[in-house]
Amino acid sequence: MTSIQKTIAFKGGNAHYTVSGKGPAVVFLHGFLENSSMWEVYEERLNHRFKVLAIDLPGHGKTTCFGYVHSMELMAEMVLGVLKKEKLRKVSFVGHSMGGYVALAFAEAYPDMMKGLCLFFSTARADTKVKKEGRNKAISLVKRNAKSFVRHSIPLLFRPKNRILFRDEIKALKSEALRTSKQGIIAALEGMKIRDDREIVIKFAPYPVHFVIGEKDPIIPLDQIMEQLRDKPHISYKVIKGCGHMGHIEEREWCWEEIQYAVESFS
Ligand code: MLT
Repeated sequence: MTSIQKTIAFKGGNAHYTVSGKGPAVVFLHGFLENSSMWEVYEERLNHRFKVLAIDLPGHGKTTCFGYVHSMELMAEMVLGVLKKEKLRKVSFVGHSMGGYVALAFAEAYPDMMKGLCLFFSTARADTKVKKEGRNKAISLVKRNAKSFVRHSIPLLFRPKNRILFRDEIKALKSEALRTSKQGIIAALEGMKIRDDREIVIKFAPYPVHFVIGEKDPIIPLDQIMEQLRDKPHISYKVIKGCGHMGHIEEREWCWEEIQYAVESFS
């Protein structure tokens, strides 16, 4: 089933998203330097049973930049605009990395609209001091040369051993990511840097939460997630063996099992 491309007006610009299928709604949110097209492979497998939305977050894909900082709250507000337009009152979220941070901001603001939350290679924790310093360095690099920042960053999302195996996919990802504007990259880095810790959101979530975790994720380490899960036995999770941060590419089928499990159990 092919998806329909849509836009809504938001804060003087446009938010772009795709919709396909009928049934309980599942909203996919991509990560940093990605866009809604990353979900195509899963979208096609789900849209005969679910209404699937994939949203381009601010400054990514075909969605406008709305300022110098895209906070997770601003991104969540834009997501709300899309859901209102689609007349959806309760949805399941699958958020990859930064997309998970946005889903958490949404969940904090609008818990009654949550059917379930799948944190896909993502975390509920805020940036550490070291990570914030890394963001500042990244912002300086982007200001100097955004293209070289993108070319350098994409392979680092993969498990080192997978960087050769997925050479072609990395090349394709780089060319997609190179279409992200300098302002879009900086605004997302600034937004991620100042995001709140939302462990409390998952601790008291009245809806199901499922983590998909990469055993070898170089961006969001396994042990950091295991610490978050320690006092939260109500949260389900799956560690994908040998996988880096890009599970939808590095372990597509294992991740499909998890996404399927999550959205089916949420609905
Ligand atoms: C992402 O993949 O969305 C980012 O790498 C997440 C992050 O930098 O925290």
